[in-house]
Amino acid sequence: MSKQLLKLDVSGLFEAKVGEHGLREPALEGLRERAEAAAAAVQADRGTGWLRWMDLPYRDDVADAIAASAKAKEGLFDDVVVLGIGGSALGNTAVQSALRHPYWNSLPKGGRGGFPRMHVVDNVDPARLAGLVDVLDPAKTLFNVISKSGSTAETMSQFMLFRDLVEKAVGAEKVKEHFVCTTDAEKGILRPIVRDEGFESFVVPEGVGGRFSVLSEVGLFSTAIAGVDIRAMLAGAARADEATKKPALGDNPAAMLAAALYLCDTELGAHVHVMMPYSHALRDMADWFRQIWAESLGKAVDTSGKTVNVGPTPAKALGATDQHSQIQLYTEGPFDKVVMMLAVEDFGGDVTIPESYGETGGIAYLGGHTFGELLNAEMRATEIALSDAGRPNLRIDFPAVTPETVGAFFYLFEMTTAIAGRLYDIDAFNQPGVEAGKIATYALMGRDGYEEKRAEIESAPRSPEKHILGV
Ligand code: PA5
Repeated sequence: MSKQLLKLDVSGLFEAKVGEHGLREPALEGLRERAEAAAAAVQADRGTGWLRWMDLPYRDDVADAIAASAKAKEGLFDDVVVLGIGGSALGNTAVQSALRHPYWNSLPKGGRGGFPRMHVVDNVDPARLAGLVDVLDPAKTLFNVISKSGSTAETMSQFMLFRDLVEKAVGAEKVKEHFVCTTDAEKGILRPIVRDEGFESFVVPEGVGGRFSVLSEVGLFSTAIAGVDIRAMLAGAARADEATKKPALGDNPAAMLAAALYLCDTELGAHVHVMMPYSHALRDMADWFRQIWAESLGKAVDTSGKTVNVGPTPAKALGATDQHSQIQLYTEGPFDKVVMMLAVEDFGGDVTIPESYGETGGIAYLGGHTFGELLNAEMRATEIALSDAGRPNLRIDFPAVTPETVGAFFYLFEMTTAIAGRLYDIDAFNQPGVEAGKIATYALMGRDGYEEKRAEIESAPRSPEKHILGV
């Protein structure tokens, strides 16, 4: 049997470890039938509707096309910039932090094996965008514009900015050499632009929502162009698919995670689900998790249309950094949290702490240990502290942060989310709350067709004076 890619340990959630604020075995037993039925229902609908992300690990033709496109661009660009937001950016960022050198953009080109510097813009903060303009040479930069809807204001405005700068730098004829667009096959504004201007493009597959799209063209192109083995990432996802197909709750890590976290939220009052990687490489995985958990499970109505207003609140912490910031609250504050640790056995690179103060009692013990040992001791210590304080916690072990384990992690949490959606009995694949904000932005920025919404916003009562304070 091949080595496990990830190991899930949920023992820290149960009352045997954390006492009265932990889960009771009978509660999980009581949910077993529903959780197994939810997992089976997701499998039964595989590849249909919004479950087409389940097919993503197996599209060899797409992986080949993306790898070939990335290969053809080798050596041509100093920088690659991803223009996208939300599900069209968070997975890309997570992959770059997980699988590239921690100071990738600061390495000389040779140290990067000739691969380009990578930037995922995401936000439309003007100072940050102006700063990016300062450091890029548009004539040596490739832009991957990613928008499923092909109309999101943040992404399209970034595209307009950089298209203009590229045209000024290289002339109208050569603009298309600097853009690869990833968007819907037909819908939206970006697709006709692609056609008119002859940009290279990839298709965001139908039935794959933004937050479930990292293993599609959305995440794979920037991954490949940074020199990461996308086939290995997809193979890791396929391994997670195998593991999460299993019918029995005790064998299926996604069903177990979904059931346990659902119970923490609905039975224990542990509404805040904190992901706490003890690995800097995995820090942005927690942001990716926050989106998929929040946007999928935070819903106003259930599948019958009844108002339910459900959803756990995902949060992010980083070990060991947040031991000196958040852990005081987690161990002594309200019993409203469950902490999910991500642990790494082999960090890839490690550094030994010199034995330079062998005689100095207070620090001599550190000498001769590696930083990996120190970080993992801190992770273990936090786990013990949380458990001793009666705080539910679980751990996911990565033997190492590799394309395989990262691919497996993405798929595991996509499946966990899909199953949790069934347990909450909500539609995990829509995002009406996100759409509402997009529409208000169009109205405020004067987009045609949104005049009525703009008038509605402008006629809203002004904030009362007593609610406005100064410093
Ligand atoms: O998960 C989602 O659906 C959203 O976060 C979208 O990814 C985000 O709003 C960006 O949308 P688009 O890719 O259509 O530009």
